[in-house]
Amino acid sequence: MQPRIVSSLVLALALVAGLQAQTKLDQIKKSGKLVIGTSADFPPYEFHVQAGGKDQIVGFDVAIAAEIAKDLGVKLEIKDMRFDGLLAALQAGTVDLVLAGMTPTEERKKAVDFSDIYYVSKQGIMIRTADAAKYPAKESFKEVLMGAQKGAIQVGLAKTLKGVAKADLEKPHAQVKELGKVSDLVLELKFKKIDAIAMEWAVGEAYAEKNPDIAMTPFVLDADGGSAVAFKKGSPEFVAAVNRSLARLVAAKAVDKFVAEAVDLVE
Ligand code: ARG
Repeated sequence: MQPRIVSSLVLALALVAGLQAQTKLDQIKKSGKLVIGTSADFPPYEFHVQAGGKDQIVGFDVAIAAEIAKDLGVKLEIKDMRFDGLLAALQAGTVDLVLAGMTPTEERKKAVDFSDIYYVSKQGIMIRTADAAKYPAKESFKEVLMGAQKGAIQVGLAKTLKGVAKADLEKPHAQVKELGKVSDLVLELKFKKIDAIAMEWAVGEAYAEKNPDIAMTPFVLDADGGSAVAFKKGSPEFVAAVNRSLARLVAAKAVDKFVAEAVDLVE
């Protein structure tokens, strides 16, 4: 082989090796920004507020994301979308990670990686305050038109409440209406298009606090709780870096503080 060809081959190989060595974490640091995907319909996790006439996304997930970005030494960019589009955005690479109060279920773990759990909550049922006497027990919801967020674990919880078997949870149910945004579910409840919502507890309380006509019932729905950050598979160093940030925040009780601050911001 001619020396020139050899040297260009060596150069090409070196380039390929260089590309391979660049991890997701390197790429983020190089780009100078961390792009997170979220569904900002979920106070106090992530929601919109009007600050100084400007629309802004805030919440304790956003505060956590800002700390992760700070630890990585990059700026934070937020992409707001429907909850059921988040994992596809992760796979497509349009977001670097998902912070959306997402529960690390076994099903999702087949498609994406998760960080450690940074917050634990319960699942419940939201109703119109005026209807409270209609529902003395969890069983009272068997024949009630319920709503749940499309793509979220609450859809399965609502169906289970209606006696649907585990094997059939993927099938649509006539009495479980699935909508893309939690804010739309709340509107439908207020305007009597649906009668109850399978709802994350802290989120239900945040909505109820500002809307006296809706309330959480005392009934807890069984679910493995907990929220974690989701990643496209195959970036262990990125997951490890985020886990370090989360551990720091949890140890300093910063997550609890962010939750309290976010609750205060709910409009
Ligand atoms: N924890 C539930 C789930 O993972 C609901 C999360 C909904 N998040 C949101 N930002 N709307 O399915």
